[in-house]
Amino acid sequence: MAEIVGGVATSHVPAIGAAIDHGKQAEPYWAPYFEKIEPARAWMAEVDPDVCIVAYNDHASAFSLELIPTFALGVAPEFPPADEGYGPRRVPVVQGHPELAWHLAESLILDEFDITIVNEMPVDHGLTVPLSITCGEPEAWPCKVIPLCVNVIQYPAPTGHRCHELGKAIRRAVQQFDGDERVVVFGTGGMSHQLQGERAGLTNVDFDLAFMDTLIDDPEAQALVPHTEYMREAGSEGIELVMWMIMRGALSPRVKEVYRGHHVPTSNTSNGLLVLENA
Ligand code: DHB
Ligand code: FE
Repeated sequence: MAEIVGGVATSHVPAIGAAIDHGKQAEPYWAPYFEKIEPARAWMAEVDPDVCIVAYNDHASAFSLELIPTFALGVAPEFPPADEGYGPRRVPVVQGHPELAWHLAESLILDEFDITIVNEMPVDHGLTVPLSITCGEPEAWPCKVIPLCVNVIQYPAPTGHRCHELGKAIRRAVQQFDGDERVVVFGTGGMSHQLQGERAGLTNVDFDLAFMDTLIDDPEAQALVPHTEYMREAGSEGIELVMWMIMRGALSPRVKEVYRGHHVPTSNTSNGLLVLENA
């Protein structure tokens, strides 16, 4: 039986990827942030998972307004980094895990989640930046990755409750997979940020820290928080936080907080990082 051995949540700010790719980590703006990610990197290296299931959102890189799947699961053997306007990041091609991904697709769909199956998909900063944050700059990513792409850019996005329930269904599916894979589930995006409109630049640290507390201690209560509250309190892009609910749902009802990092700002974002293990 495969096993979920932990969860990671992290912001996926593209400027972090650019800072890594251009060797700016030691610059005064970035050094305090990069210091705070070290414990998460050390945990990833120690846990050394076989597979990461990464809940992230595409930012009009793989999908345009022509086609907007709510939940899209990548079943391909590999996923290239997307060209987001400056050429693709020079990071390794993501290696998938088609066997586990197809098992997830079957299990989730029979569990009544209407998942879109994706055979070909470039992956943008939503996925590659969290890998860079947690794995550094290896020649090849140290584990296989199953992308789970969530629509949070075109209204209506799925609710936090739906995302939490999907996480629970992922846990059931992984536990039924006939293999010995050790799996880490990622939720990416957030925390508070707004990139557009009158409130561009908004961050809300009080909301973000309270969100982390409730996510950890009482996810069923966090699952009842509606979109409007995320938007009001965390800004229009703060809605990305619903993807953290997928990660949380995939862990046991009680969890151990292994590491918490928070840094504000990175680019426009109040940046959060969590490492959780099943209690
Ligand atoms: C920023 C954050 C994001 O989550 C994103 O997708 C793009 C930009 C930012 O803070 O600049
Ligand atoms: Fe984003």
